Amino acid sequence: MNIGFIGCGVISTAHLEGLEELKKANRETFELSAVCDLNENRANAFAATAEERLGKRPTVYTDYKKMIDEENLDAVSVLLDHDLHHIVAEDCFAAGIHVQMQKPLAISPYYGRKILADAKKYGRVLTVSEPSVLGAENVAMARAIKDGIIGSVNLLMDYVTVTLHRTFFAGTAWRHLKGRAGAGWINDHGVHRTHMFTEVNGPIREVFAYTEIFEKELSDGNTTIRPTGEDTSVTVFRFDNGGLGHWMCSTAAHGETMGGVWIYGSKGCFRPGKHIALANGQTIPVGDLIMQYAPEVAAHPFAHSYVELWEAISDRIVPISSGERGLEALSIVYAALESALIGHPVKVEDIMNGVRHAYEDTVVKEMIPERKSPLI
Ligand SMILES: NC(=O)c1ccc[n+]([C@@H]2O[C@H](COP(=O)([O-])OP(=O)(O)OC[C@H]3O[C@@H](n4cnc5c(N)ncnc54)[C@H](O)[C@@H]3O)[C@@H](O)[C@H]2O)c1
Repeated sequence: MNIGFIGCGVISTAHLEGLEELKKANRETFELSAVCDLNENRANAFAATAEERLGKRPTVYTDYKKMIDEENLDAVSVLLDHDLHHIVAEDCFAAGIHVQMQKPLAISPYYGRKILADAKKYGRVLTVSEPSVLGAENVAMARAIKDGIIGSVNLLMDYVTVTLHRTFFAGTAWRHLKGRAGAGWINDHGVHRTHMFTEVNGPIREVFAYTEIFEKELSDGNTTIRPTGEDTSVTVFRFDNGGLGHWMCSTAAHGETMGGVWIYGSKGCFRPGKHIALANGQTIPVGDLIMQYAPEVAAHPFAHSYVELWEAISDRIVPISSGERGLEALSIVYAALESALIGHPVKVEDIMNGVRHAYEDTVVKEMIPERKSPLI
């Protein structure tokens, strides 16, 4: 099948690595036949890298509508700013093309529901390329926890701080403006975490958070912005199964950064990326878990994302990283943001169904007018 990339920015090269892994392993994979970026130089440089890695130069476009008209594409990967996801997805579905979306599924839950509805309307496949639940290591973790390796999960803690030196995350100013990115780092980074939380321990029922914008101005020397997206959030939540969570992230930390995830169950502790420490003193390395629980899964999360897309198109297999799960991850983030705004805990279901949307309204207000769809 032929695939096109729309957007050749920061994350696109990691997707080439995924396709390359599949090609080297002689697994069925997509041919990257076209790429598109508004920035022609970037698109050309990316096409050259693609040729080096995959052996064929994709055709370059600067207009994605032209690309989907002229190319014989089965699928696209949408690698664009969050406020464009719903627009480009609809155009691709309407042209009969399946879509792999980058996280977050959409700029906000309303637009996430729109993407799901459009996929259904046009009968096309939608997957989300969410690396925190894909790839052998992450799949092994989720399967081992669901298998009861650490007993019933009762506490999950996830902390990360980074320093931006008051410039932009990944060199992109749009990430700090909620009308473009949906929120601050709690959304851009946060959906990875919330997607993983629910993958290992089921739905989250209720969330409470405090959020803040500590750094009122960011600049890379050329562009200066006043961020409207939060740079720091401290969140507590309760899973449907009664387990509790404590989650914190900040891009406004200076001097020393920190990070780590601890998943505690009745029989032991899972340290993602490291090991399991069981109450009986046994330590199980991640490598052993992969051999036991996910030997057939591609190692690279993005390689796995293309396997999921392929199988969803050709065999109608429901992907691990589905649009529905992407909407759930996004809704947990928005539940945190809603609670920080109104000062009360918020049920994730109320955000997912559109019952509560006070924070979302502030995002929609800041969106570029021509990127808004009429709200139902
Ligand atoms: N680990 C991950 O899963 C991960 C990591 C980074 C980014 N992402 C996601 O990938 C997406 C892109 O992020 P990024 O960091 O690559 O952003 P980026 O800003 O570096 O890249 C976006 C690219 O899209 C191009 N573009 C913008 N509008 C366009 C249009 N209308 N037509 C064609 N091209 C257009 C820009 O010129 C730019 O090159 C976001 O959804 C982001 O959240 C995922």
